[in-house]
Amino acid sequence: MTAVRARSRPVMRLSGALLVLAGCARAPEGVHEFVVEDPAAWWFTGDYVQMVAPVHMPSPEAGRDQVEVWLHAGAIDLEAGADGVERLRFRGVTTADRIEWNGEGDARRIVDVRGTHLDAHDRCTHHVLRPLDEGPGARLVGMQWPCDDPAAQAWVDARMRERLAELPPFVRMPAERRGRALDAFVQRNDCDGCHREARPDATIVGALGPVDRGTDASGFFAPASVLRDEQPIEAYGAFDRNADDPAITVRCDRGAAERYEPRAGVTRWRCPDRQVPIGRVAWAVAAQDDPARRDQICAARRYLIDALGTAGQASFAAALEPCT
Ligand code: HEC
Repeated sequence: MTAVRARSRPVMRLSGALLVLAGCARAPEGVHEFVVEDPAAWWFTGDYVQMVAPVHMPSPEAGRDQVEVWLHAGAIDLEAGADGVERLRFRGVTTADRIEWNGEGDARRIVDVRGTHLDAHDRCTHHVLRPLDEGPGARLVGMQWPCDDPAAQAWVDARMRERLAELPPFVRMPAERRGRALDAFVQRNDCDGCHREARPDATIVGALGPVDRGTDASGFFAPASVLRDEQPIEAYGAFDRNADDPAITVRCDRGAAERYEPRAGVTRWRCPDRQVPIGRVAWAVAAQDDPARRDQICAARRYLIDALGTAGQASFAAALEPCT
């Protein structure tokens, strides 16, 4: 086990909202209310670093990357999987959060957070958070529960479903639409279904589930993406921002990649025979076209490489070349 860096503040704050749990059927062991009073202070002022990857993640909006991953890592090892491939393995106190945003400027606000926490004994919990209202900076409420625990997962799914029905935007929807939206939420609450550990990249679109990128040995996607110049381009999500980024070139294993318009105003890449398109960053173009983004990628790479042991640092030395 590698060294564990202490966090400067507690990972979760319990609030008076715990009473809500006491009022209904007893929560399974390890299930807690989770409240973030002030999202800005929670993620964006200290311990966490944003995992900006060269190849963009899918975004719900065309004009900007509205999905962000923020990470606080203890230590990271490299672990060889059954397939012999070495992958990142997070050790010690680690929290990763996928934060989804809506809007821009002063009106930009968080609409969904899903995260995973590993404690000093490698115990894993998931959490999911939604805003209490639609103002920027709104308080976030949700739950935390043990990973790979179907009973806890089912309890949280049902409880979150009830809870969200009373919150915007669900509360305003006509009943039938609300039901469908809540079903979709529960489907997306199947964290362990997507975050399987040490999964390879898919070569055929959708062959390994909705996500074509593989995972690391802890089941995460974004940190490994940060370190890769080249990786699968996803078919899910409303917009693929790689289609309009001059720094991203796209290829297929066999045949030529082509851009197409699945619907008006939306451009995507595809390959023959449902092969997964592979995006690659051209660093010289990235440095010219969007130096601020290049710097964010480099900061994320440095953070991960610092957290890796010496052997890991040797493995990823080339990842810092475009950053000097
Ligand atoms: C449909 C598949 C899917 C489901 C279901 C899902 N995730 Fe993810 N998750 C992803 C993908 C893909 C990413 C990478 C960011 C992106 O592209 O949106 C991600 C990002 C994350 C991250 C940031 C680290 C990383 O892996 O990149 C965390 C933490 C996370 N998800 C936790 C959760 C939790 C907790 C749940 C359940 C409440 C959940 N996820 C449900 C696919 C999924």
